Amino acid sequence: MSDNKSVHRAAEIIREGGIVAFPTETVYGLGADTFNPLAVARIFEVKRRPYFDPLIVHVANPVDVKKLVVEIPSNAKKLIESFWPGPLTVVLLKEEEIPDIVTAGLPTLAIRMPNHPMALSLIEASQCPIAAPSANPFGYLSPTTAEHVREQLGDQVDLILDGGPCPVGVESTIISFLEERPRLLRPGGVSLEEIESLIGKVETNPIEEGRPSAPGMLSKHYAPRTPITLDWNGESLDIYKGKKIGLLAFKETKNHLKFHSVEVLSRKGDLREAAANLFAAIRRMDALDLDLILAEPIPEVGLGRAIMDRLRRASQSFTFPPLVGGENREGEVL
Ligand code: TXA
Ligand code: MG
Repeated sequence: MSDNKSVHRAAEIIREGGIVAFPTETVYGLGADTFNPLAVARIFEVKRRPYFDPLIVHVANPVDVKKLVVEIPSNAKKLIESFWPGPLTVVLLKEEEIPDIVTAGLPTLAIRMPNHPMALSLIEASQCPIAAPSANPFGYLSPTTAEHVREQLGDQVDLILDGGPCPVGVESTIISFLEERPRLLRPGGVSLEEIESLIGKVETNPIEEGRPSAPGMLSKHYAPRTPITLDWNGESLDIYKGKKIGLLAFKETKNHLKFHSVEVLSRKGDLREAAANLFAAIRRMDALDLDLILAEPIPEVGLGRAIMDRLRRASQSFTFPPLVGGENREGEVL
């Protein structure tokens, strides 16, 4: 089928209450009609996602936001004007008719306009805003190719649109506008520096409360099956003797240590390129049956903040020293 035909078939499926995986500039999403609670419920089932974790609603035109939220504060407007379509999600007070299952019962709604021609055509042709989380089983790495989606959710979704690899590679930045000062809920594809240069200081400390205010607030997330750690001094591998160790390097290095495999995120040390490669590189390593992945820290500026956020969460269940006394798969504490 041509791209055009596939998009129209996908839109039909959405209108009929089905679920479709589609590309965005950040990661692949798994979408349903926002106003069809049963269709949205199927997304939670397929992902095995807890119902307390709300979804992002995707629109094809900034004007559509007005119908979905009570009010758009001026700072939110500024960000929307500058970064849409693009990897920025705003959290605003929702209009009443948004189904509770979409927002997990919260009075707020997360919205973004993706910067991907296929996503935009799909939303337009579906004639509804599309509620979509990333198209991965809950807690696992987000998919950045159609093949990633096929491997993990293939037979459970009604259609997978293939738009090639996602150019940004990490999820959208989420900013909430519910308090006096805007708050960063998740670092992502638009950097904090870019945002603050437009609207001034943004709150970055997470709110302490019972339920997570964004997925990043869940301590373990974006995790491969293989244990991953940032806690390595870059020196000897002696303590890992006899184990299969992989290195997730930021840029080209002259490291002579004997790794079982090495992935370089960006040879020239470019943060955008590193972000675009991040999840696919970890997936490739995850398929090698390694005992441990050592991840090099990334400079925490620009997109580096989003990359380090994902690496920290991926490494959450890891305890040091890692391999004494057995496996550390599935997040077991040794
Ligand atoms: O780049 C992205 O944002 C991708 C693509 C597909 O658009 N989507 C994505 O969705 O990363 P997801 O569901 O994997 O992560 C979005 C997170 C939710 O888990 C949730 O915690 C947070 O956004 N979120 C959604 N609605 C919210 C709300 N009303 N208040 C606070 N956080 C919210
Ligand atoms: Mg996700």
